[in-house]
Amino acid sequence: MVNLSFDFSGRTVVVTGAAQGIGQALAAMFHDAGALVVPADFNAEALAAAWQRAGERVRPIVCDVADPTSANELIDAANQFGSGVDVLVNNAGITRDRVVWKLSDDEWHAVLGVHLTGTFNLTRAVIPGMRTRGSGRIVNVTSYTGLHGNVGQANYAAAKAGIIGFTKTVAKEVAGFGITVNAISPNAETAMVASIPPEKKAELTAQVPQGRFGEPREMAAAVGFLASDEAAYITGVVLPVDGGISM
Ligand SMILES: NC(=O)c1ccc[n+]([C@@H]2O[C@H](COP(=O)([O-])OP(=O)(O)OC[C@H]3O[C@@H](n4cnc5c(N)ncnc54)[C@H](O)[C@@H]3O)[C@@H](O)[C@H]2O)c1
Repeated sequence: MVNLSFDFSGRTVVVTGAAQGIGQALAAMFHDAGALVVPADFNAEALAAAWQRAGERVRPIVCDVADPTSANELIDAANQFGSGVDVLVNNAGITRDRVVWKLSDDEWHAVLGVHLTGTFNLTRAVIPGMRTRGSGRIVNVTSYTGLHGNVGQANYAAAKAGIIGFTKTVAKEVAGFGITVNAISPNAETAMVASIPPEKKAELTAQVPQGRFGEPREMAAAVGFLASDEAAYITGVVLPVDGGISM
């Protein structure tokens, strides 16, 4: 639960990767702030479990963001659920870590497919409606690794760096239509972080000036701001929400 004064009543919000972790916290924040929420995820079982007690303002949809058809179907369903998608958060993600000379084609393409192609698929699908309405908010999720690199994550770093260039380019393309496109660079205690070996995690924690990983709800506060009316004059930025690690 995040206590925010943002009011998203009447807005339709799509959050990908919303079965757990940061995406679930983001979708819950938008719901608490009054929005119609479409939590989307590849993992049907986890999505159903996460949102089983959801009320009428929530429409969970199973979607593989890497598949353009599935992405288009998600946006079509979300457009019909409300009166057009007002906010899209491209959050879905996976890792397939291995040093570059051992990375398989599948591991490379899977990570690029979910993060970079997934962000493209949904952004392309959602913009026509936002352009027609003359407003919209797109928030992408990048990473410290995309800016600085990380051993074993050439695929992930390339995808996340790509998302930064994509964010800035699309921000310029749609700036005249009342649409903003921004990104956050999070650092939060989630299943993705739990998969990091303990010694590597201790090393990473030591690099965070605040000395801890964030909570998913702390990412939600930043995304809520970027998606709000109050952030209308902010576009093309990457906002680190990371306890200072990227300083
Ligand atoms: N946790 C962190 O510290 C951290 C740091 C930097 C960036 N990120 C980014 O934040 C985002 C969320 O990460 P998280 O830590 O909550 O991870 P997580 O693994 O807990 O959640 C990711 C979700 O994405 C879903 N997903 C995976 N592939 C999908 C697909 N093809 N289509 C739809 N959904 C799919 C998964 O099922 C899962 O529910 C990711 O983009 C990740 O790269 C996280």
